[in-house]
Amino acid sequence: MVNPVFTSDMTSNKVETWRHIFGSMAHRQLSILEVGSYEGRSAIVLLEMLPHAHLTCVDTFAGGPDLPDLDGVEERFDSNLVRCPRSICLSNNVAPMT
Ligand SMILES: C[S@@+](CC[C@H](N)C(=O)[O-])C[C@H]1O[C@@H](n2cnc3c(N)ncnc32)[C@H](O)[C@@H]1O
Repeated sequence: MVNPVFTSDMTSNKVETWRHIFGSMAHRQLSILEVGSYEGRSAIVLLEMLPHAHLTCVDTFAGGPDLPDLDGVEERFDSNLVRCPRSICLSNNVAPMT
């Protein structure tokens, strides 16, 4: 399996908190909506943490004030999640969150 490619990490510092919140839900068939997936790191963590969940990712891939350089981010998301059959990405075109 190809290793995912990330250019930044906005996820790792949240993983312990998510483990605390989601730990008891690992057996459940959840449907999760993630708004703002970027390169897919948080999506991959959630799918690993919740092995029976289905994840819908929504992203403009247009960034925001804190993410000025989004060159190739949608392609990296697609490539990073291509082997995750429990996920789907809906690319939207609403205004970036401020
Ligand atoms: C902080 S990053 C997400 C980081 C990601 N969850 C992770 O942990 O790797 C924020 C993302 O939200 C997306 N975004 C900003 N405004 C949005 C909107 N209105 N709808 C959907 N996505 C949006 C940006 O394109 C960016 O990819």
